[in-house]
Amino acid sequence: MDNQTLTITDNRTQQTYTIPIWRGTIRAMDLRRIKAGAGDFGLMTYDPAFMNTASCQSAITYLDGDKGILRYRGYPIEQLAENCTFLEVAYLLLHGELPTEEELAYWNCEITHHSMIHENVKKFMDGFHHDAHPMGILMSTVAALSTFYPDARNVADPKCRRKQVVRLIAKMPTLAAYAFRHRLGLPYIYPDPELSYAKNYMNMLWRRTEPKYVANEVLARALEVLFILHADHEQNCSASAMRAVGSSTADPYSTAAASIAALSGPLHGGANEEVLRMLDEIGSNDNIPGFIAQVKEGKRKLMGFGHRVYKNYDPRARIIKQVAGEVFAVTGRNPKIDIALELERIALSDDYFITRKLYPNVDFYSGIIYEAMGFKPEEFTVLFGIPRTVGWLAQWQEMLQDPEQKIARPRQVYTGEDCRDFAPAALRGQKEPAGI
Ligand code: ACO
Repeated sequence: MDNQTLTITDNRTQQTYTIPIWRGTIRAMDLRRIKAGAGDFGLMTYDPAFMNTASCQSAITYLDGDKGILRYRGYPIEQLAENCTFLEVAYLLLHGELPTEEELAYWNCEITHHSMIHENVKKFMDGFHHDAHPMGILMSTVAALSTFYPDARNVADPKCRRKQVVRLIAKMPTLAAYAFRHRLGLPYIYPDPELSYAKNYMNMLWRRTEPKYVANEVLARALEVLFILHADHEQNCSASAMRAVGSSTADPYSTAAASIAALSGPLHGGANEEVLRMLDEIGSNDNIPGFIAQVKEGKRKLMGFGHRVYKNYDPRARIIKQVAGEVFAVTGRNPKIDIALELERIALSDDYFITRKLYPNVDFYSGIIYEAMGFKPEEFTVLFGIPRTVGWLAQWQEMLQDPEQKIARPRQVYTGEDCRDFAPAALRGQKEPAGI
C-alpha cells in the first residue's frame, strides 16, 4: 500500500513532519524529531498502563479482542485444545513449530527428567507457615531456584537458556504440588516418570497410601486442556513483567518470580480465586440482582468479567464452559455453575456491561471446575501459573533474541516541585505530606 505515512503539523512551530507507518504503528522515537525549539527534548507519548503502546514485536501469540480470536503460533486455540497435549503446545510456543513424533518424545523425556527438585528446597518450604498463600510459596521457591543454578545467569548463551527453560517447566508442577501438600501437612510425593505432565501433577497432589495413583482420565484431560488455554496470552501484565525484568539480563528464575508476583494480583490471575469468593458470597440466584446493582453503582467489580484486550467473548471461556460439563459428569455438578450462568445471562443483557463490552474472561469459569476437582480457591492461581510459565519463557527468549530490545526503561512526565532550596527542620512550615 502506498502512502504508509503520517503527516503531523506542530502548531507551536508550524513545522510539518512525515512519519512512517508500519503495521498500523508509528515509532515513538520518530516523534522525538518534533521539537518546540533548539533546546527541546522532543515530543514523547504519554500512555499510563500501556493502553495504546506496543512494547515489542512478537511472533508467539495472536489475539483479536474484537473478534474473540486467540492463536498460538498461528494455530487456533480451539484446535490445539482439542488435539494436543500440554507439552506439545509448550514445544510449539517455545520453538515456533509443532514437534514431530521424535521431537515430542525427546521433549517429553527431557521435561520428565528434570521434574525432581533439590532436597534442600523441601527444607525451606517446610519453613513456610501452614496457611501461607501458595502463590507466595511458589514465588519464593522459584526465585530460590536461582541459588541452586548459578549457571542460569548466563542468559546470553542459548544452550544455557534452553536448560533453564526445561528445568523451570519441569519443576513448576513439583513445586506447586509440594506447596499444596505442605499446607496440608502431608509428605511430599516424588514425580513419577511414567506419567504425563498433568497426571504426574495429580499424582504429586493427591496420592495418599496407594502404591500407584491412578488419575481419572477425564479429569486429567480437563487439566491438560486448562493448561493449554492458560499457556500464553501475549503482552499481559505478567508477561510484560517477564520481559521488563528479564531485559536487565537477570536470571530466569528471579525473572519468573516477578511474573508470578504479577500474576497473583486479583486484577490478573488472582481473579479466578476472587470469582469463587464472589460466587460464595452471592450464595443463590435470588441475590444476583442486588449484586449486579452494586456493581453498576461502582461499589463492586464483577470478577472474571472484562479484559483489556477482549471486547468480545473470551474464546478460552467458551472452551472452559464445555470442559466444565465433562468434569461435572465425573465429580458431580458444582452448584456454583448455576449462579455463574445466571450472572452471565443477566450481565450480558444489561446495558452497563453491553456498552462497556464486558464479557466473561478465562477466570470466570475455571475456578468452578478447579473446585469440583478438589482444589481450594487459594490454589487456583497456582494452576494458572504452572502453564503460563511456558508463555513467560517464550516471551523471555524472544525478548533476549530481539536485536531491538534493550533494558526496559520508560520515561515519565515529571509533575513535582520545581528546584527549591533546603531548609533546616526548625524553619520548615507544616505541610500535607504527598504520596505516603
Ligand atoms: N466489573 C464491573 N465493571 C467493570 C469490570 C468488572 N469486572 N471491568 C471493567 N469494568 C468497567 C470499569 O469500571 C470501567 O467503567 P467506566 O468506564 O464507567 O469507568 C470500564 O468497565 C472499563 O474498565 P477498565 O478498568 O478501564 O478496563 P481495563 O482494561 O483497565 O481493565 C480488567 C481490565 C483489569 C481485566 C478489568 O476488566 C477488571 O478489573 N476485571 C475484573 C478482574 C478480572 O476478572 N481480571 C482477570 C482478567 S483476565 C486475566 O488477567 C487472566
